[in-house]
Amino acid sequence: MYNQKFWNERYTTDEYLYGTESNTFLAENAALLRGPVLSLSEGEGRNAVFLATRGLSVLGVDCSKVGLEKAQSLAKSRGVVIETEVVDLDEFQPKDNHFGSIVSISAHLPSAIRHKLYPLIEKALKPDGIFLLEAYSENQLAKNTGGPKDIDMLMTVGKLRQELPSLKPILAREIEREVSEGKGHTGMASVVQYIARKEA
Ligand SMILES: C[S@@+](CC[C@H](N)C(=O)[O-])C[C@H]1O[C@@H](n2cnc3c(N)ncnc32)[C@H](O)[C@@H]1O
Repeated sequence: MYNQKFWNERYTTDEYLYGTESNTFLAENAALLRGPVLSLSEGEGRNAVFLATRGLSVLGVDCSKVGLEKAQSLAKSRGVVIETEVVDLDEFQPKDNHFGSIVSISAHLPSAIRHKLYPLIEKALKPDGIFLLEAYSENQLAKNTGGPKDIDMLMTVGKLRQELPSLKPILAREIEREVSEGKGHTGMASVVQYIARKEA
């Protein structure tokens, strides 16, 4: 399975690499989200657990079994229930017309995977469903504050508009912001923030 070993090794520590608090862009816009929520590349669970504490049902998928075990521990410690599934997003088949929202936080994927996955995401959203993404932008390549060192995995608003053509953007921007998410993501960073709706 694609880079599963790398991520399992990274997550094999008691510490939560990206912290246990939600991504701030997700938290700021959580009121827009409806369940069930699909969280792509959920990792150690901070975002799924946050959404569950807001009363949303969440399925967090990730290629790392170790990460998702930590996600379940975090959910238990916060007294919430989340669903998790070990999947390779290169082969993932989400249910059609099923999710009220799909979130993608730091889910940096090669274009070869995005080109298969994103059409399925468009189909998996219910009408009026929301797609919310924050990812490092291509400008992050010059910085040493986190993210992949491969421009193909970094995002731009243009790539998102092109790769998710049937979703209508509500917010689409590339900004610099201070990120403080555990040891994994820390410092001034260049990010893309994107929220789009599937037409009813
Ligand atoms: C930077 S971490 C972000 C984790 C989480 N979204 C967060 O914000 O805390 C990237 C995640 O992508 C997952 N990932 C990478 N490639 C994947 C793939 N092909 N299929 C599923 N998950 C993948 C990794 O296991 C890792 O948990």
